[in-house]
Amino acid sequence: MSSVSKVAVLGCGRLGSSLASLIDKSHGIELSALYGRKEAAVREASLKTGVDKIYSNLKELPSSDIYLVAIDDDALESFSKNIFEAGFAKGKVIAHLSGSESSQVFSKLHSDGTFIASCHPMKSFTEKLVSLEEFDGTSCVLEGDSEACDVLDKLFSRLGAKTFRISSENKLKYHSAAVFASNYIVTLLDIAGELLSEIGLDKSFQGLEQLSQQVLQNVFSQGTEKALTGPIERGELEVVRKELDCLSEYKDISLLYALLAERTSEIAERKGSISTEKKSELKSLLEKAQASS
Ligand SMILES: NC(=O)c1ccc[n+]([C@@H]2O[C@H](COP(=O)([O-])OP(=O)(O)OC[C@H]3O[C@@H](n4cnc5c(N)ncnc54)[C@H](OP(=O)(O)O)[C@@H]3O)[C@@H](O)[C@H]2O)c1
Repeated sequence: MSSVSKVAVLGCGRLGSSLASLIDKSHGIELSALYGRKEAAVREASLKTGVDKIYSNLKELPSSDIYLVAIDDDALESFSKNIFEAGFAKGKVIAHLSGSESSQVFSKLHSDGTFIASCHPMKSFTEKLVSLEEFDGTSCVLEGDSEACDVLDKLFSRLGAKTFRISSENKLKYHSAAVFASNYIVTLLDIAGELLSEIGLDKSFQGLEQLSQQVLQNVFSQGTEKALTGPIERGELEVVRKELDCLSEYKDISLLYALLAERTSEIAERKGSISTEKKSELKSLLEKAQASS
């Protein structure tokens, strides 16, 4: 179980192609195979990555120490049946790369003596291949059998990643956190862009970029409490009331504003910039605004 020499990548989409290319270029690890279920797609991935050990039949895969499965999340369970039937993973390590599914989606393979895990790289992979320099320092979150996690730890550390372990039960909570930190930031900026475009400022207004980047920098260098500024942090309830009033024409945006305002007041209270009484005053203001909308 200590060897990390032969690695097969199953799935030749965005992440599979990038990982296969990274492994192929790194020292001390051998990319044994890049698998895709469609011959044309795996050929295309081979041209893009320069990887020539390509397969489109699971039964023909060469023996490997680790199998990394980079396919759609909703196909993982049925794919584990294909792996079980093909029988190549017996006693080996098999891991998928999904952020939301835990290793348990592969539990059927346990009966074969296979070690199962998942490894989620906290990075966005597009059609463009990621270089070893770009992958360096990427946080990869592991969960699953400890034997499998130990092997993946070595593999991904060798690729320059920083690995972290969580328990399988916490996988969905972990993924929800990642959704807030990535997808919902996009949604909030989309709302901000929409409001600005309605008052004649372009959606890609430079000031929004400067403001958001500065805030993100502050959050990660100083923490959420110090990074929080604005009307709630200053306890300006009248500003919140007027803004809720102004946004009342958009039901979903005003509801979201109110929910976020309440959550923001908890940060402000922790920071000590507003009192518990002020927080309760805000809560009743928000409740009234929601009731009358
Ligand atoms: N892209 C990212 O930024 C990123 C980041 C972290 C983790 N991930 C995870 O990585 C995995 C792959 O994501 P991706 O973005 O690389 O997806 P993708 O570009 O859409 O590629 C998915 C691949 O899965 C294959 N596939 C789908 N169903 C299959 C099945 N039943 N049997 C065999 N192959 C099948 C597809 O093949 P066909 O072309 O034949 O349909 C395609 O090659 C997902 O679990 C995702 O959550 C992605």
